[in-house]
Amino acid sequence: MAAVPEMIGHVPVLVNEVCEIFNPCLGTGVIVDATVGGGGHTSALVRAFLEKEGSKGNPGVQILGIDLDPESLAIAFSRLEGFGCQMIDIDAGSKRGSATPLVCLVKANYADMATVVNRLGFKPIKGVLMDLGISSIQLQPERGFSFDADGPLDMRFDRTGGGKSCLDIIRRASVRDLERWLKDYGDEPAARRIGRRIYSWRRRINTTRDLADLVASLVPARRRHRTLARVFQALRIVVNREIESLRCGLEAAVRILAPGGRLVVICYQSGEDRCVKEILRRHKGCLRNLTPKPLRPSLGEVGLNPRARSARLRALEKVL
Ligand SMILES: C[S@@+](CC[C@H](N)C(=O)[O-])C[C@H]1O[C@@H](n2cnc3c(N)ncnc32)[C@H](O)[C@@H]1O
Repeated sequence: MAAVPEMIGHVPVLVNEVCEIFNPCLGTGVIVDATVGGGGHTSALVRAFLEKEGSKGNPGVQILGIDLDPESLAIAFSRLEGFGCQMIDIDAGSKRGSATPLVCLVKANYADMATVVNRLGFKPIKGVLMDLGISSIQLQPERGFSFDADGPLDMRFDRTGGGKSCLDIIRRASVRDLERWLKDYGDEPAARRIGRRIYSWRRRINTTRDLADLVASLVPARRRHRTLARVFQALRIVVNREIESLRCGLEAAVRILAPGGRLVVICYQSGEDRCVKEILRRHKGCLRNLTPKPLRPSLGEVGLNPRARSARLRALEKVL
């Protein structure tokens, strides 16, 4: 294998729980990892699959990994190529190879997962995994997601696809927009005060450090880290239109799943979690809730991986 998790720097969250929920689906069709990132969950699923199946020859595609971020996909590829992995450029019209590998990777928005699956002819779809948000491998200063390091205020998952950077968005936002974003997407109690200050200083904010210093100056030291995390999370969600994509992605997932197929969503923020509960309500007749209470990471997991702290996993099964 080309790389190990420690070298890649992103520790997948609730990985045993994910493998357990998908266990009945492994080997019976294709699982879509709609947020493959650096391939942490996918490599655990591939290992679980190989353990279950033993060596029954080439089993064909088992996992389709999707991500918007070409840099993450390149890392996933180097991690997974030892299992048999193909990168497919769907925009350039490239197709699946005839010798089907265990994993296929595609750069796409998960909102378009139904199109990707249909165009490439993957079926039956027995699982969809959506591990929302950002991975640690995207925290390099030049991506603009991190408040710990100075860099351009960018925050786009896909820098190749156009789209406005965080700086552009802040400069054009109204004070109402800023307040609402911090409240709705950051769950930030001081949304009003921070939103107003960002608005009045927006012409003087150029980098992640400028924004972080401004926000830090508004809260006591003990609350700084949490507040910065919430503000940066809220703006990232706006920059990448994450809630809009999530709503479309969840609908697409329900559509493409075969009967008995399972959808697992790991959320880190209440707005994301609300979208999952909405989908369950909307498709009440054809979805079974496998987690009436969302699964949370154990204290042990949070101790080893503090990023897991806010994770909530919901799992649904398509019954018809
Ligand atoms: C928490 S990370 C996933 C980490 C992955 N589970 C692992 O174990 O390495 C979330 C990933 O979702 C990707 N992402 C965010 N929004 C997306 C979208 N609309 N479509 C596809 N990928 C998206 C991000 O680029 C990021 O790599």
